[in-house]
Amino acid sequence: MRKIQIFDTTLRDGEQSAGINLNFTEKMEIAKQLERLGVDVIEAGFPAASPGDFQSVKEIAEAVTHSSVTGLSRANQKDIDACWEALKNSAEPRIHTFIATSPVHMEYKLRMTPDQVVENAVSAVKYAASRFTHVQFSAEDACRSDLPFLARILEEVIHAGATVINLPDTVGYITPKEYGERLRYLKEHVPNAHKALFSTHCHDDLGMAVANSLSAVENGIDQIECTINGIGERAGNAALEEIAIALYIRKDFYQADTNIQLKELKRTSNLVSKLTGFPVPPNKAVVGSNAFAHESGIHQDGVLKEKTTYEIISPELVGVQSNAMVLGKHSGRHAFKEKIIELGFDLTQDELNETFKAFKELADRKKEITDEDLFALLTDKKIDASVSYYDVENIQVQYGTNNVPTATITLKEPSGECKQHAATGSGSVEAIYNTLEQMVEGEVVLHDYRIQSVSGGRDALAQVHVKVTYNGGESTGRATAQDVLEASAKAYVNALNRVLIQKDRMKEQV
Ligand code: KIV
Ligand code: ZN
Repeated sequence: MRKIQIFDTTLRDGEQSAGINLNFTEKMEIAKQLERLGVDVIEAGFPAASPGDFQSVKEIAEAVTHSSVTGLSRANQKDIDACWEALKNSAEPRIHTFIATSPVHMEYKLRMTPDQVVENAVSAVKYAASRFTHVQFSAEDACRSDLPFLARILEEVIHAGATVINLPDTVGYITPKEYGERLRYLKEHVPNAHKALFSTHCHDDLGMAVANSLSAVENGIDQIECTINGIGERAGNAALEEIAIALYIRKDFYQADTNIQLKELKRTSNLVSKLTGFPVPPNKAVVGSNAFAHESGIHQDGVLKEKTTYEIISPELVGVQSNAMVLGKHSGRHAFKEKIIELGFDLTQDELNETFKAFKELADRKKEITDEDLFALLTDKKIDASVSYYDVENIQVQYGTNNVPTATITLKEPSGECKQHAATGSGSVEAIYNTLEQMVEGEVVLHDYRIQSVSGGRDALAQVHVKVTYNGGESTGRATAQDVLEASAKAYVNALNRVLIQKDRMKEQV
């Protein structure tokens, strides 16, 4: 079996998705889960893009030891230096540098001639290779680039020290057959191709990112770049979970293997979905909630007689519990602790005590606490433990179809003092947000509000995601509560707290 390296770019290309804005703690939590999942390389960010990106790449590189950590850089010294500063202490310093090679990008975006692009790429790779042991070069928009030109630049960058060559389908344009042909052409026409590993990075604009990546496997690729749940620029990237499962289930055909721990796929997908606020569609392959649900009578009958009639992937393979034990108000600390371990959380004694208390409070109001409820509760507790600037102490909302909705809120301020205030709005949520806006210091603009239920049933938990600008800083916010209005208020305050935390982190680093 050939080993295919999995290069995960959830924290870089995935984080570039419109509407996603992860804070440092969330990035670290995802990086640790990716390490557990067994990805070979984690692209943790773009260090030159912002001080926040720089710091998170640096801290992830220092914390993660079982996966190699890399950062993105344009083909210039300033970006490469930022990458080096962020990654020099990692176990295996690795850089990913890129420049566009398609006619349209070179002429209109870069305003450079092909010769200038080659010169620039070569000098960037040489400079990077003088520091890093692993240098990955990406020919951006490789799939719309002229093949002889691509062969020329790749030969030169390999000569200059590139150890991995990545061929991105930046705009999701290519078809599986063409991708395979392109790869074969390059392997034949780049004389030193054998000195580098070849990598694929496919976008999903035409819905072919996974198919193109798998075609690359058929045609000798060594590494696949992908993201959890397929998040990424525009229509997203190739979905890691689909690739890993396709290679596993069809190893008879692909004759290739990965280091991915398949049992961690569902947890990783849940975590990324929860922290990004991007729900996974029910019919999504491998990790969607319907991926293992058999609805029609004929199918159910078949599965009852013999699972493999309609089931090619067993839910357990990807970490979906088919007979999960549900907790309730009579469940004790022991069962709770067991469940926490089963859900993949590693809590300190204090965290355990605190989450057990929160669980008991919830169990008084909600009959059955599902795995999804606990996952939401624990993730929120773990990630937002340090958030303590503003805190919602109490909310009261008056609503009537013929009245003006009014919210009265008691808010704990960063000074520790509690204040109460009331305001109206055209709906209950607007009344809450108007009240909070008048209570906090500075200007808040709400850009997005999303609500979803965590599990089924009329007593389901509500999960709210918001996106705000607060005093010029952009942030998302997230909260889970049994009441939709409470979740709405807390998500809003969570977003403001994140802006304040980010500002403090930046001050500490100056
Ligand atoms: O899609 C793309 O071309 C990229 C590169 C920076 C690798 O994300
Ligand atoms: Zn990309």
